[in-house]
Amino acid sequence: MAVTLIWRGTVQDSTSPRDVIESRDGWADERRCIDCHEQAESFLRTGHANTLQRASERPSLALLEQWNLLLDETRTKINVINGQPVVSYRDGSIERNISVDWCFGSGAHARTWTGMLSDSQGASDLLELRYTWYHVINGFDVTPGQPAESGRDPLQNLGMQFDGPKALRCFSCHATRVPMQDGNIVLQDVVAGVHCQRCHGPRARHVASNGQEIDSDWEFHDRMDSVRRCGQCHRMPEERETHEIRPGNPDIVRFQPMGLLNSACFKQSEMTCTTCHDPHRSLSEQDSKGLWQCMQCHDPGRPEHTLCSRGERENCLNCHMPKVDMKFPVSFTDHWIRIPDMGGKNP
Ligand code: HEC
Ligand code: HEC
Ligand code: HEC
Ligand code: HEC
Ligand code: HEC
Ligand code: HEC
Ligand code: HEC
Repeated sequence: MAVTLIWRGTVQDSTSPRDVIESRDGWADERRCIDCHEQAESFLRTGHANTLQRASERPSLALLEQWNLLLDETRTKINVINGQPVVSYRDGSIERNISVDWCFGSGAHARTWTGMLSDSQGASDLLELRYTWYHVINGFDVTPGQPAESGRDPLQNLGMQFDGPKALRCFSCHATRVPMQDGNIVLQDVVAGVHCQRCHGPRARHVASNGQEIDSDWEFHDRMDSVRRCGQCHRMPEERETHEIRPGNPDIVRFQPMGLLNSACFKQSEMTCTTCHDPHRSLSEQDSKGLWQCMQCHDPGRPEHTLCSRGERENCLNCHMPKVDMKFPVSFTDHWIRIPDMGGKNP
């Protein structure tokens, strides 16, 4: 089967990741990269590497064990049968089980669980459980996007159902490989998490040739190409109506490219996402509190640079890239770098 290249092929007109991750050819074992690349060591601690795991692994399982204690009023119970978590519900007089297969999210913000419904319950639909674990509250609350009140239907009460294509979309942003056969995800072959080859392309030939063979289709061509690679999952401004793209709109803060691409910093420089983020290290390992990032272009030691006209020399993020609380217990960093509205306060 030919490999369809998402970067070259469709990335110009579409930011939706697909094609390549569904193919079964050309992939190396992700564990091989560490033989020759030091990046692989720190990478294992990133959100990318840990954004999807099997629900039966730790720490997912440990959190699910708290579920029954913390959510006793819901009548939704998680049982662990031979190491496999399952939720049960009553269908008339029959007690039915659904196995909880996947845990989405590294836990830096949150974790949400899903299970595949069997054919008798609705083909290969995905069930997204109604409750999500949130880091800041160290507890459970309703999953973003699900109704605040639970319904009467016992199955709907467990969570929301997604059809196959929508389920595939979840995996396409949280996994490296999602092999497909006859329109179904081959679950046991899913490579969970955003690993090296999700960004650098299938590397079997590269590994077999001791790194000599490099597929130029996967090289970074220019800065928009680079930003779009991140934007295929973190979302691009084109994915929203133009009236939604305005500074201060909390609904777009979660999608970092939407703000950043409208900042003067971005428009008037060669900035990309990797100007401030090393994709091979976790945020906490790269001292991301802001100063060094801003100093690259606003350095008091460089006369050609523009400096803060308020005379501030630290804590740049507090005013220019503040954290914004979402409707659910998670906050994101406002990437629309701009002059803040100081609410009439004098300097
Ligand atoms: C046997 C050693 C070896 C293994 C295994 C290996 N690489 Fe490489 N890789 C190399 C060498 C050698 C280079 C060229 C180094 C240079 O440019 O200085 C390279 C370059 C690269 C580059 C930069 C150039 C490019 O192609 O864009 C990337 C990205 C990369 N490798 C990714 C990977 C990934 C992902 C894996 C795991 C699937 C991997 N490599 C496994 C040896 C290896
Ligand atoms: C989220 C996307 C992403 C993932 C995942 C990722 N990389 Fe990269 N990688 C990049 C980007 C972007 C660059 C170019 C860096 C830059 O702009 O300086 C890069 C550059 C590289 C390079 C070239 C040398 C360098 O540091 O500039 C190597 C080698 C490499 N990556 C290896 C790996 C390996 C091995 C893994 C897995 C352990 C990995 N990458 C995972 C995005 C990623
Ligand atoms: C295949 C989809 C995908 C791509 C491509 C991708 N990301 Fe991500 N990124 C994610 C997901 C999913 C998370 C959430 C991780 C978690 O569960 O905490 C994330 C989290 C992050 C985080 C915060 C978590 C951390 O500490 O690592 C940063 C920063 C980030 N991405 C930057 C980038 C940059 C820069 C690029 C492009 C070089 C990029 N991402 C490409 C899916 C992606
Ligand atoms: C277009 C790519 C994309 C799709 C589709 C997608 N996600 Fe994500 N997801 C991300 C990115 C990027 C992040 C990290 C930043 C964020 O929360 O927006 C993330 C974060 C998460 C988190 C961690 C919470 C957080 O805010 O960091 C969970 C849980 C999650 N996604 C579950 C899902 C589920 C379940 C689906 C399918 C219903 C899904 N995602 C579909 C890209 C995607
Ligand atoms: C000017 C520097 C800068 C640039 C450029 C930048 N970021 Fe960030 N980003 C930050 C800072 C600072 C944080 C907050 C870090 C922290 O809390 O430790 C952050 C946090 C994040 C997070 C974690 C969730 C959040 O919003 O707090 C994600 C995901 C992310 N950035 C993605 C991106 C993507 C994708 C791009 C490119 C479109 C990008 N960033 C470009 C500085 C930058
Ligand atoms: C890659 C270079 C680059 C980086 C990194 C960068 N900026 Fe900028 N920034 C610019 C340029 C270029 C301009 C517009 C021309 C000027 O004022 O110098 C600008 C303008 C600004 C403005 C004025 C915005 C407006 O709408 O008038 C603010 C505020 C600002 N930057 C703050 C920051 C902060 C805070 C950081 C760190 C989080 C940062 N910048 C990082 C290049 C950068
Ligand atoms: C207490 C809040 C605050 C902090 C902290 C802060 N700024 Fe500012 N900054 C402002 C305000 C307000 C303005 C607009 C002032 C004015 O009216 O000229 C501004 C203006 C700017 C401008 C635009 C200058 C121009 O001439 O157009 C830049 C660039 C800038 N800040 C960079 C930074 C950097 C870099 C840092 C960290 C070293 C920083 N700021 C820290 C509040 C702050």
